[in-house]
Amino acid sequence: MGQIKACLFDLDGVIVDTAKYHYIAWRELANELGFEFTEEDNERLKGVSRMTSLNILLEIGGVTLSDEEKNRLAEKKNENYRTFILKMQPDEILDGAKEFLLELQQKNIRIALGWASKNAMTILDRLELTECFEAIIDGTKVTEAKPDPEVFLKGAEALGVRPEECLVFEDAEAGVEAALAGNMKCVGIGSPNNLGKAHLVIDGLHQMTYEKLIELNN
Ligand code: BG6
Ligand code: MG
Repeated sequence: MGQIKACLFDLDGVIVDTAKYHYIAWRELANELGFEFTEEDNERLKGVSRMTSLNILLEIGGVTLSDEEKNRLAEKKNENYRTFILKMQPDEILDGAKEFLLELQQKNIRIALGWASKNAMTILDRLELTECFEAIIDGTKVTEAKPDPEVFLKGAEALGVRPEECLVFEDAEAGVEAALAGNMKCVGIGSPNNLGKAHLVIDGLHQMTYEKLIELNN
C-alpha cells in the first residue's frame, strides 16, 4: 500500500445532510400520486440514483407508469428538491468537516469529491466549499453507481495519484465497498455494524485528524 496523498469524499452524510431534502421532495410526489412515503422508506433511497429512487417509490405506492411519465416525475421531483438546496447555508456543513478539509490543505493532502449527485456543484457552491476541492467527480461524470469504484477511480485519476494512495470517506456500505474495490483505504462515517469493512469507523469528521490519517499509512 502507498502512503496516503489524497482524500476522496462522499458528500451526503459525510459533509452535509441532503437526504432530508430528498425526503421532502419524494414525499410530496408520493402524496400527489395518492400514497404515503415514510422516513423509513426514504432509507432505501440513500445512495441510489434518481431514477432508481423513483422506481422504488412507485413500487411502494403500487403505481405503474410509462417511461415518459417517469422522466417527467423525476424532473418534477428534482425541481422541487432544488428549491430546498438553493436555500442551503454554510452552517449546514456537518460538525468538523470544514476544519478537517482545511487541515488537509495545510498538510498538502490533495482533496477530491466522489459523489454521484447531478446537483453536487450547486450544493458545494451554496456551502461555499467549491474551492476546497481540487477535483470534483459528480453524477455528470460517472455512469456506474457505487459499489462500482468508478467515481473514486476517476477522482484519483483527476488528481494524478494512484488508487492505493487514496483515502475515501464514506457513510454508506456501498460506498465503503466501492473504495475497497478501487484498492483504496476507507474511513466509514457511522456505525461499525454496516461499515465494519472500512479501515476505521468514526461518528463524523469532527473525530478525524491528520494524525489518524497518518496512522492509516501503517
Ligand atoms: C445520492 C442520494 O447521494 O444522490 C440519493 O443519496 C440521490 O438519494 C442521488 O438519488 C442522486 O442525486 P441527484 O441530486 O442527482 O438527484
Ligand atoms: Mg453518503
